[in-house]
Amino acid sequence: MNFLIVGDIIGSPGRTVLKEYLEKNKSKYDFIIVNGENSAGGFGITSKIAETLYGLGVNVITTGNHIWDKREIYPYLDSESRLIRPLNYPKGVPGMGYGIYEHKNIKICVINIQGRVFMPEIDSPFERIDEALENMKEENPSIIIVDFHAEATSEKIAMMWYLDERVSLLYGTHTHVLTADERILQSGTGYITDIGMTGSFDGIIGTEKDRVLEKFLTSLPQRFEVCETNLRINGIEANIDEKTGKCISINRINLSIDEI
Ligand SMILES: [Fe+2]
Ligand SMILES: [Fe+2]
Repeated sequence: MNFLIVGDIIGSPGRTVLKEYLEKNKSKYDFIIVNGENSAGGFGITSKIAETLYGLGVNVITTGNHIWDKREIYPYLDSESRLIRPLNYPKGVPGMGYGIYEHKNIKICVINIQGRVFMPEIDSPFERIDEALENMKEENPSIIIVDFHAEATSEKIAMMWYLDERVSLLYGTHTHVLTADERILQSGTGYITDIGMTGSFDGIIGTEKDRVLEKFLTSLPQRFEVCETNLRINGIEANIDEKTGKCISINRINLSIDEI
């Protein structure tokens, strides 16, 4: 089964490049996952944007620390299983940390977890994913895919070994920089530290560079704006055997809008 997984969509420039890519390439994929935590002007996601993404052919939207930026999404998170937020926020907050989606008669589980190194303090992603994997044993999904939204490469590689053999694919998001370390462990678990971002590459991880530089230079708060030129899509395509749940191949995608 062919999966397309797209790195953080940054505002309307990110949505434009995703639309262009999917219009031309959607038919190559069986199932499409995107990270939408920055899809509304760089901060969070709205229900309208989520619906637009499903309309383009997206099956599941994962998120991260920015999921809470737009309050209107809170009730939507409780009603829409195709939009998930990191699992390891304290119990009782809106939304779900994973979903099991029946697609072409195959049960696909997508889990979103968040790191704790240089990130907001939340529950242990290690403990909470154990709990989730235990809880879904009865449903027994054929394929399990994990978006680990985290800053530190060490935490992501630690999670790779922790989930070795237990999931089909673990990929990182949040840094917005595509890494070149994709690999498949002997057990058949696929891994890449970060799948990058989709949007403008003329800024600083998607944001207008002057404001971000000003913040680094002065430490004063700034209003960040999404950057709009030099658009690229970042992500991976992964082939996963639906019978064994093992990852067969991972290919990076890093294309300018003109190369699509
Ligand atoms: Fe992000
Ligand atoms: Fe993030």
